[in-house]
Amino acid sequence: MKTTISIIKADVGSLAGHHIVPEPLLEIGRENLRAAQEKALINSFYVFNAGDDLELLMVHQKGERNEEIHALAWDTFQKAANKAKELKLYGAGQDLLKTAFSGNIRGMGPGIAEMEIEERRSDPIVVFAADKTSAGSFNYPIFRIFADPSSTAGLVIDPGLSTGFKFEVLDTKQNRKVVLKSPEEMYELIALLGNSNRYSASRVWRARDDLSCAVTSTTKLSLIAGKYVGKDDPVAIVRGQHGLPAVGEVLVPFLHTYIVEGWMRGSHWGPLMPVGLSDSKCTAFDGPPRMVAIGFQVSNGGIASHRDGTPLIADLFDDPAFDMARREAQDIAAMLRRMGEFQPARLSEESMEYTTLPQVLEKLQNRFKPA
Ligand code: F6R
Ligand code: MG
Ligand code: MG
Repeated sequence: MKTTISIIKADVGSLAGHHIVPEPLLEIGRENLRAAQEKALINSFYVFNAGDDLELLMVHQKGERNEEIHALAWDTFQKAANKAKELKLYGAGQDLLKTAFSGNIRGMGPGIAEMEIEERRSDPIVVFAADKTSAGSFNYPIFRIFADPSSTAGLVIDPGLSTGFKFEVLDTKQNRKVVLKSPEEMYELIALLGNSNRYSASRVWRARDDLSCAVTSTTKLSLIAGKYVGKDDPVAIVRGQHGLPAVGEVLVPFLHTYIVEGWMRGSHWGPLMPVGLSDSKCTAFDGPPRMVAIGFQVSNGGIASHRDGTPLIADLFDDPAFDMARREAQDIAAMLRRMGEFQPARLSEESMEYTTLPQVLEKLQNRFKPA
């Protein structure tokens, strides 16, 4: 029997602006998933937030793209959105872009990453969830984890990894994908992934046996809605150890900050700040963009748990080891904000297409004369 890890998320309303999911919505998430667990639809769950995004982590045996699992997530988001409306929370129902569920949550607004695995003797998993940023923000760490020998020592030292990895890269503009093999095609891989605005690393497999080792959500909300409705705030699942990058190698790219798209009004470059769950909120200039990392062990179709069924969860960025990245993020945030709305602090014109900026510029159209 195979085990599936599904992380499905949506912004259905938040407290005091776009900054955090308040407790009553998290509680609805837990109640709904607990009921599904009692009915044996899912085996384990963990509900948490990445800033204003409600994150439903579910482990089950129904496979990827399962209608019942997707309907469960959709139903949970709807219930939470109703509560958000009742409380007049901000942006209630924001990411629920379609009215009726039609079998698959993909393309309806929520973000999703799913991985079906054959459980190994022991299977450590890291789930990443980010707020105020876009799908391409995983390109840099995914590249470093699975392709960069200066980051993942195992690529050099462990014969289990040294045959390399295969990357599926999604072209979000033309809705097409390509698979590239590292190390042989590493330069081409960087050529694509370096353009994080257009290309996203969507899946990774170990080359020697096609073992699934990473998957990210790659939705572009603006491409579904046709206008700015919040950034994509992506999630990712990464599998570690024993012939894969160690969990420590999965986390080491986050020792330093790096710059991603998103932040205020989804319109700025900003430093990604890895944080523990207690700092998973976006404040200054609606940010800076933040990422949490949840570690757990998959066990017999579920998550290894306490005796009462509560999953054993490691809050991996809740650690002074990432203080330096946080400090760097603060410095870079201050530096970029000092530039105001001058590029490159603000995104390029093309990326601003779906924001409210074109409405502002519209009124100048008739005043332009040939130069
Ligand atoms: C970014 C985000 C926020 C909002 C900003 C303005 O993804 O959600 O930065 O864009 O707070 O929000 P509105 O237009 O709702 O006042
Ligand atoms: Mg929001
Ligand atoms: Mg968000």
